Amino acid sequence: MAETIIIDKSLSKQERYETLLPQIRSLVEDEPDLIANLANICAVLKYSMEGFFWVGFYFRHDDELVLGPFQGPLACTRIKIPNGVCGTAVNEQRVIVVDDVNQFPGHIACSSDSKSEIVIPIYKGNEVSAVLDVDSDSYSNFDATDEQYLQQVSEIVSELLNA
Ligand code: SME
Repeated sequence: MAETIIIDKSLSKQERYETLLPQIRSLVEDEPDLIANLANICAVLKYSMEGFFWVGFYFRHDDELVLGPFQGPLACTRIKIPNGVCGTAVNEQRVIVVDDVNQFPGHIACSSDSKSEIVIPIYKGNEVSAVLDVDSDSYSNFDATDEQYLQQVSEIVSELLNA
């Protein structure tokens, strides 16, 4: 695995993702342990991207989502589908970007510092079996660039799940 992640803080958001993605691929490519890989992906994203206050994974178990590896403050352990932003993303099988979490009906507030959020479904076969959830402590922190590149992260995780 790569021992260090190199990220230049002066880079734009897109440039950061372009720099990070190959490093994330190389970080996980020779490591077979899923939990170790997901934990490192959380750390890389949280400490490389601007305003990423909480980064983590939830895994689907029947009708609920259960907390997986994450970086950030304490989070809800279980979320019933289709509750919250995470449960909605699973139920509707789509990426959800929330500019202001207070405006999202049913948003589950794990921390009052969370202001905006993006949730990306992760597929095992044709089923959503997990989500990548990122919260920011700034409003409107996530846009089409995050959606595009975090979907690529979710595809890397899908490959791990389907391996
Ligand atoms: N806000 C999420 C819950 C998970 S935390 O943000 C870590 C939701 O509404 O599903």
